[in-house]
Amino acid sequence: MGATMSPTDFTRLAQYAGSGCEKYDRRGEIFGREDVIPLWVADMDFPAPDFVTEALSARLADGAFGYAKPDAEHFRAIADWLCDQHGWHVCPNHILPVPGVVPAIAMAIRAFTSPGARVIIQPPVYFPFFQVVRDQGRTLQENPLVETDGRYEMDFDALAEQARDAEMLLLCNPHNPGGRAWSIEELEQVAAICARHEVMVISDEIHMDLTYPEVAHTPFAHAAGHAGVRWMTVSAPGKTFNTAGIGGGFAVIVDSTQRDTFGRERRGMHLGEGSVFGLVAMKAAYTEGGDWPAELMTHIAHNRDRVVAAVADLPIEPMWPESTYLLWLDCRGMGLSDAERDPGDIALQRFFIDEAGLGLSQGIIFGEAGRGFMRINLATPTRVIDRAMQQLRAAFGKQGGRAPS
Ligand SMILES: Cc1ncc(COP(=O)(O)O)c(C=O)c1O
Repeated sequence: MGATMSPTDFTRLAQYAGSGCEKYDRRGEIFGREDVIPLWVADMDFPAPDFVTEALSARLADGAFGYAKPDAEHFRAIADWLCDQHGWHVCPNHILPVPGVVPAIAMAIRAFTSPGARVIIQPPVYFPFFQVVRDQGRTLQENPLVETDGRYEMDFDALAEQARDAEMLLLCNPHNPGGRAWSIEELEQVAAICARHEVMVISDEIHMDLTYPEVAHTPFAHAAGHAGVRWMTVSAPGKTFNTAGIGGGFAVIVDSTQRDTFGRERRGMHLGEGSVFGLVAMKAAYTEGGDWPAELMTHIAHNRDRVVAAVADLPIEPMWPESTYLLWLDCRGMGLSDAERDPGDIALQRFFIDEAGLGLSQGIIFGEAGRGFMRINLATPTRVIDRAMQQLRAAFGKQGGRAPS
């Protein structure tokens, strides 16, 4: 795969057509064409950092692939990461290994809610949140975010109403796709409402390390502390270190009864303690990766700025992100329809595919509130972003918009 790179080399493409990765190799299936620049699924095009690949290589060389067990150092590494990066003090005994964030959410729904119970989500939101609730036989309660001055805010009045007959809230913190890193005041309101109505909060913090340089992530734990709310947090290193295909995550559950309840559910799935590679990658990432998120987000901020500049005179408004390497593009000004259920009516998606040659995520898959939006993945070398923007501008040129400068 080439010479050893610096852990901060953001110029090399590790994923490409035929490399067996979803982002490139599912283009035909998703976009109907193999030649779009793929800027959709949330993983990164550059390689995982050296300290992760070196730890994996060492394990590979050992050939020790029996059933894995995370040791005390593993949980210490996670706890130290949460403390050093986010000022969150977690007792290692309160951390449980999980196969991934979405599977952990599925387990939490099963462990802590009754069949048919209402589970609140806040669309537009990471689309598996819809599915994971339905798949467990629970009822979706949508509490859509409200767009205020070009950014998303929560509708606390509606949440307070809906919480009356709900059992759980799936919080996306930071929020995908809107890029909000929720503030302590916002999280405290969530905690207070959910405490009042005995709604358990599951905080998905998989994007916790991916805040832009001027922004800090606030763990839900900081708001939950005094509110008396039932809560747990799930996260994983997969987004931060580009190890999503290896798997492995963790749950933090402070309350011992809840930990037992969740632990029983998890054991009942017979999934084991995790894959050897997932555990090795996680420990290496959290032990050695302290400088990586800031370096990564400096690169992502650069790409964000390139996109924002490139669309400045187009009818596309990027929502200014506080977090994640995903940029949410408001394309409603283009006046193109975007209806998921009518395959003949997907003009917005078709424009990006056929006119611009770009494979982005359609906003509508994140819920009705995402209609007219597209999500672009910025985690790729800058030259790929620049080429994508040239193609986008040229597409507008064809349509009578301003030609690329
Ligand atoms: C908010 C959010 N949660 C969870 C995941 C996926 O987590 P996992 O692969 O660990 O199930 C993603 C991936 O994009 C995500 O954006």
